Amino acid sequence: MCGIVGYTGNLNAIRVGLEALKRLEYRGYDSSGVAYLDKEKNIQVIKSQGKIRKLEEKIDKINPYSNTAIFHTRWATHGEPSDINAHPHIDCKKILALVHNGIIENYREIKENLKDNHKFISKTDTEVLAHFLEENLNKEKLETKNILKALKLLVESVKGSYALNIIFKDLDKTIFFARKDSPLCIGIGEDENFLASDVTAFLPYTKKVIFLDDFEIGYLTPQKIYIYHVKTGKEFLLESGKIIKNTLNKKIENIPWDVSQAQKGGFKHFMLKEIFEQPKALEDTFLGQKEVLENLVERLKLPSLIVFSACGTSYHASLIGKIYLEKFSNLPCICEYASELRYSKFPYPKDALFIFISQSGETADTLAALREAKKRGFKTLAITNVLGSTISREADYVLYTYAGPEISVASTKAFSTQVLSLYSLAYYLGKKNGLNLNYKSHFSKVFTLIEKLRNFLENSENLKNIQEISKWLASFKNTLYIGRYYNYPLALEGALKLKEISYIHAEGYAAGEMKHGPIALIDENFPVIALATKDSYLEKLKGNIEEIKARKGKVVILSDEENLKSYGDFFIKVDYLEDLTCLLNILPLQLLAYYTADFLGYDVDQPRNLAKSVTVE
Ligand code: AGP
Repeated sequence: MCGIVGYTGNLNAIRVGLEALKRLEYRGYDSSGVAYLDKEKNIQVIKSQGKIRKLEEKIDKINPYSNTAIFHTRWATHGEPSDINAHPHIDCKKILALVHNGIIENYREIKENLKDNHKFISKTDTEVLAHFLEENLNKEKLETKNILKALKLLVESVKGSYALNIIFKDLDKTIFFARKDSPLCIGIGEDENFLASDVTAFLPYTKKVIFLDDFEIGYLTPQKIYIYHVKTGKEFLLESGKIIKNTLNKKIENIPWDVSQAQKGGFKHFMLKEIFEQPKALEDTFLGQKEVLENLVERLKLPSLIVFSACGTSYHASLIGKIYLEKFSNLPCICEYASELRYSKFPYPKDALFIFISQSGETADTLAALREAKKRGFKTLAITNVLGSTISREADYVLYTYAGPEISVASTKAFSTQVLSLYSLAYYLGKKNGLNLNYKSHFSKVFTLIEKLRNFLENSENLKNIQEISKWLASFKNTLYIGRYYNYPLALEGALKLKEISYIHAEGYAAGEMKHGPIALIDENFPVIALATKDSYLEKLKGNIEEIKARKGKVVILSDEENLKSYGDFFIKVDYLEDLTCLLNILPLQLLAYYTADFLGYDVDQPRNLAKSVTVE
């Protein structure tokens, strides 16, 4: 997913912006670029396909100075990765440069209307916006009110998603913006201001943030922030630190993270750091949610059905959530991929509660499904890890996880905090539903869980054992993860972790399904990871393992039962903690994927073709 950054202030915007852009690298990209106003206030553009260091080499050659610059990391949607297609894009007369995150759905139609008077250089959808603005500023003086008028027209004419940063020739220390569906936030500094796709970019400079909403346009200078809502005409104006106008009711939020949390802190990769952060992330989430949950569930009407919807890892968390809620709150649940739910007929009882789970809070399919549910009058709850994310502002209710910034594309601590959130939610909904639940017995295991996770991670024997298995697993092209009950969603999640960072084909399967097809795959070249903890109907799982071994299949057994050690080719010892065992079992699966990908020498944090948050469809 693209990343955008804008800076204006008294520092060299090129250097500040470049470092800020590097903090968005985790989003995944294939090219990058910068546009800035030089000493004569003319637009200059430097861009390059490939990693940011290639852009940096080009910048170092010129070593420019400017107080106004916009930056971009591109994740190609229209037009292959190339210098030409990289952002920023300019208009014919170079009166402006812009960077964009999102997709312009009607760009062909706009291009068709402009082609007689404009020369297009790239194959991107984004470039049409530069010419659209140029066309609508043609007869106008280049000044703020005319630019805002042209931006208003853009919002009214363009279909699709966009987070835009735009600079104009001669308009020193001024950056314009527009936002719809793609995240964009303002970092408020002292005599300097930032724009970025997410707060990680400018955390070292400021924790004061304004999150922009759909149909908001505006501009910022080092001392001024102006926001205008195209549909309502409402405004926000902050000047020299004072709020002058706020009919738009914008909030200035304080980000609770510090920049070290968004850096590797001595770990080789963000993913490993985030795996090791899980005990703390779980503790922060459990403690952070206590008040919120009681109050939230009090406001919720007991639904006759709960519909979970999410993508990827968050979807797997919802599968565990279904088990928890059905067990502890006696409420029927279904889980739907957001990319499927959004097109469904929503044949659900009117009082159904939709629970959308999203670490980033920006996933396009999840947002689309949420909007569809809301349009049909359903109540919606979002479980997300990012303060002020789009999903948190569009759902009727929000429950935050407190995992801290999750930078690595492969989601780990977000998953475990999502699962714990659902474990807690199930208790409060169960109480509301009149079930005889005891707070102490339900939650006493949470601190035992956190302790056991810490112990597992501190035991170098565990890590060495998993590294050994990873080296062996790395030699295969295919593998199967199998589990029952809680361990079925874990099998799906373990398989996703392995495939997305080691590129080994891995499938998660309900163990009971083995004889309905997958067992045909098994031979000595097709290893199986069997999740065999007590709560997964162990006897049945032992049967699966026997069937696999009878076909020369190799088996890695993950279990709390020592006597299974001799059953397989490899053994990973985990503890048993009843309904929270799943949060013990996921840890070795995350480590197995991590060490395998690292052993294969892949880019663990930014795997090929993937983005941290899929904000495009
Ligand atoms: C998980 O490791 C993947 N990065 C991916 O499946 C991710 O979980 C999915 O894209 C959903 O992201 P979200 O939680 O931010 O909505």
